[in-house]
Amino acid sequence: MPDVTTTSAIATGHLAVQDSRTGKAYELPIREGAIRATDLRQIKTDAKDFGLMSYDPGLVNTAACRSAITFIDGDAGKLWYRGYPIEELAEGATFLEVAYLLLHGELPTPAQLDAWTQAVRAESEVPDGIVALVRSFPREAHPMSVLLAAVGGLGAYHPESKAIQQPEQRLRDIRRLIGVMPTLAGLIYRHLTGREPRRFPATGDYARDLLTALFADDEQYTPDPRVVRAMNVLLILHADHEQNCSTNAVRNIGSADTDPYSCIAGGVAALYGPLHGGANEAVLRMLHQIQTVDRVPGFVDRVKRGEGRLMGFGHRVYKNYDPRARIIKRTAEEVFAAQGMNPLLDVAVALEKVALEDAYFIERKLYPNVDFYSGLIYEALGLPPGMFTVIFAVARTSGWLAQWQEMVEDDEQKIARPRQIYIGPGLRHYTPRG
Ligand code: CMC
Repeated sequence: MPDVTTTSAIATGHLAVQDSRTGKAYELPIREGAIRATDLRQIKTDAKDFGLMSYDPGLVNTAACRSAITFIDGDAGKLWYRGYPIEELAEGATFLEVAYLLLHGELPTPAQLDAWTQAVRAESEVPDGIVALVRSFPREAHPMSVLLAAVGGLGAYHPESKAIQQPEQRLRDIRRLIGVMPTLAGLIYRHLTGREPRRFPATGDYARDLLTALFADDEQYTPDPRVVRAMNVLLILHADHEQNCSTNAVRNIGSADTDPYSCIAGGVAALYGPLHGGANEAVLRMLHQIQTVDRVPGFVDRVKRGEGRLMGFGHRVYKNYDPRARIIKRTAEEVFAAQGMNPLLDVAVALEKVALEDAYFIERKLYPNVDFYSGLIYEALGLPPGMFTVIFAVARTSGWLAQWQEMVEDDEQKIARPRQIYIGPGLRHYTPRG
């Protein structure tokens, strides 16, 4: 894979380090473009010294794992799942095919896809207790809060999921979690919009089943094929994104040998944040606040003065156009053809144009990310902003589980337990006050 292995990643060598505190010299091996952080520990001032650490708030330059799932070249704007460019998968694959690819490393044969689809489909039911739990929440609740509780609560029905070292058990839980997510999304949306819970038999077309769970009121419901296709594309684009905040949360929680339901609940919690998956909701709120194209320049000026961020812009890894945003922009046009135009599209397009030509954004390499246009599609489908991140979570569950499985199978992984630089008070002694 010549595109992946950059010269710095393949070249082995060493880093020569001289500690000016002691005058001692060290050679730290460089492998795969990295030094091992634990190799720093030998650098000490004396025998009692703990050893050198690296300080990296936000893990900006720390590789916490070796992974074979997703590759991103942030400068070139490339995203591959298991080596396949996202553009090709979005164009030709189904979501369940992509989920299989993420989990197993290869695309399924027709027979494997059929077996996988049937297995996921068979897991779409949720226990009555989870239905009751969802219905116990106030209708004003944020859907992500409810999803967090429901996914975590599912673990209570599957204590056998604690046997994470057993591959068969892991696979059962993986199938179940992917199978129930559309059902949970539909259940939550129905409850929060005052509708009775309804279950429709899963067809195995994951995008269609998700739309049915959300919107169907009777057996006759048939979503527009263009909308099914758009939902399939959105699910694929959101399926994985290597070591993002929520995936890192899933891996962190899983590193304590925690069951996968709790891990995915942790992923949902991280995704909820407006700097991460919650950005798609925040973008829509921002566009509603701007309202009209003529107010775009004033809004951008306020962002540049530090009075808020341009939501849906910027990324820790992409310093170029997010390839997912490009595909979503095209998909939006297809959805608008089916559902009618979203008038806020003009505002979004104007906002993007102004930002991309402005020195503030150019200098900081801030481009539209996956969340910039997705909310416009969800809104055109009739979903309220709070549900946008739920759809993201439904899709990302496949990536979270692939990453969780990879971590469990990786002998090098240990419980995630970072160090700190203590900056608090020195020793002091308690004396009762007053
Ligand atoms: N609007 C205005 N300024 C920004 C933005 C933005 N959206 N993003 C970054 N900057 C500025 C930031 O103020 C800083 O400027 P300066 O150097 O003058 O202090 C510089 O760009 C670097 O920003 P950073 O916060 O150090 O970058 P980061 O890598 O820590 O943050 C980010 C990445 C995605 C959290 C950030 O770009 C952001 O807050 N974007 C808006 C929220 C958003 O759209 N999130 C979705 C991310 S993609 C999908 C997902 O993860 O779910």
